[in-house]
Amino acid sequence: MDSNRLKSPAKFASLMSKVLSRVTPSETEEVAMRAGINTAIGRISKIISGRAEIVVAGSSARGTNLSGDSDVDIFMLFDNTVSKDQMEVEVINTAKHFVKGVKNESYVIKYAEHPYARLILGDLGLNIDLVPAYKISSTDEMGTSVDRTQLHNEFVKANMTSSQKGDVRVLKAFLKAHSIYGAESKTEGFSGYLCELLVIHYGSLLGVLEGIASAKMPLVIQPGRDAKESADVLVKRFGKDFVVVDPVDIGRNVAANVSEESLARFSLASRFLLDNPSESTFYSKANSDVNPQRKIAEIRNRLGISVHSITMDFKDISPEIIWQQAKRLERKVSVGLESDGMAPLISLCNISGRKAVICFFIENDARSISIANGPSVFMGNAADAFINAHSSAEFITFKNDRLFAVHRIRKRAVETMRKIASSAANRPSHMEKGRMSIHSDAKIPLESARLIYAAYSAKISV
Ligand code: UTP
Ligand code: MN
Repeated sequence: MDSNRLKSPAKFASLMSKVLSRVTPSETEEVAMRAGINTAIGRISKIISGRAEIVVAGSSARGTNLSGDSDVDIFMLFDNTVSKDQMEVEVINTAKHFVKGVKNESYVIKYAEHPYARLILGDLGLNIDLVPAYKISSTDEMGTSVDRTQLHNEFVKANMTSSQKGDVRVLKAFLKAHSIYGAESKTEGFSGYLCELLVIHYGSLLGVLEGIASAKMPLVIQPGRDAKESADVLVKRFGKDFVVVDPVDIGRNVAANVSEESLARFSLASRFLLDNPSESTFYSKANSDVNPQRKIAEIRNRLGISVHSITMDFKDISPEIIWQQAKRLERKVSVGLESDGMAPLISLCNISGRKAVICFFIENDARSISIANGPSVFMGNAADAFINAHSSAEFITFKNDRLFAVHRIRKRAVETMRKIASSAANRPSHMEKGRMSIHSDAKIPLESARLIYAAYSAKISV
């Protein structure tokens, strides 16, 4: 029996149609959004007066946006005589003029590969990402990586049926429920475009779920390509076991940001959903954090472990950068703890605003000895060399015919953490100077405990 196949099609179908009606924008919502978009486009066009073409992109252009999500992507397409710097200036000026003197409207400049403007339009009920790009018709002409988006639009529009659009919406909701929707560093999950490609490739939502539930690594998908390349070649080229080749740019892996853990979570969640299609397998359960400090104390006591955290304040910089820098430090500290013989059971990272916390659950958070295993006495000169090399050992003794040396050391997890986190090479470059503190167990402050417990709950949900 194939256990990764749907067992009760009727239950699955009725659950999916329930979710579909929840995630599809209502007629009223749709009409209001279109009206808002048209108004905005009219006002942008007036400001830019022919210097760029204005197009709606992303999920609201493709009919794969979720109900209640009022984020719209609008691209300003320039021709290649305009420099990148000029494009930047145009976008910022457009945003400035757009909101100038208008009540309930503001903008912020955001940074991806290039700056773009986010318009926050209270009365229109929309947030618009206004993104500058070059107008292109193939990736050969690509000047910036966001230029691809217009080609994505065309590919998706030409290759997706309206029932598949519904499938994409449900798939996004499912991934969101399991905290793996979005390609940003926080999530390392599946982008909207990746969801679209998966549905196109597997044909339907059910196809995606069954495909991912029974996936074997490496998993290489080449949507919309007639001449497929060998999977091995692609795995080598992209240096990843999960590859989804962008049909509009075969040099790009759309799944580049998907972590192994996110793909594994998707696979397991798909198996559970197929086994038992229900609200509770579709939506993972939420954990309350009424008293996170007490919850963490309970975990410590039950398991007999200790919990150590590093809390940092960052400068006013994008969450993407904060996540990247905090996660990098988390990995460095984790490796350091492991090499000092105190490998964390769990390591976590979470941020809120400009505050970041990384945290380690450790079984033995202090070491008083280190053991070096030596050779058999019967292995020629190796035993002599071992004894010489360990002249500073507390003692050397035998385990059967083999030697081992015992050294006295004094290692504590917090010291390892402090040493690694404060070294110039590891300290996050965008952290506020002097705004790093280490806490243990009951001393972890409430705000950090809240972030730790939230990350822990997400981590242990399987
Ligand atoms: P969005 O992140 O807004 O995705 O990027 P989306 O498809 O509109 O999905 P939701 O519903 O808002 O979550 C807009 C477009 O920019 C391109 C894609 O073409 C995407 O559809 N894009 C975005 C990328 O190519 N790569 C990225 O990492 C992000
Ligand atoms: Mn979008």
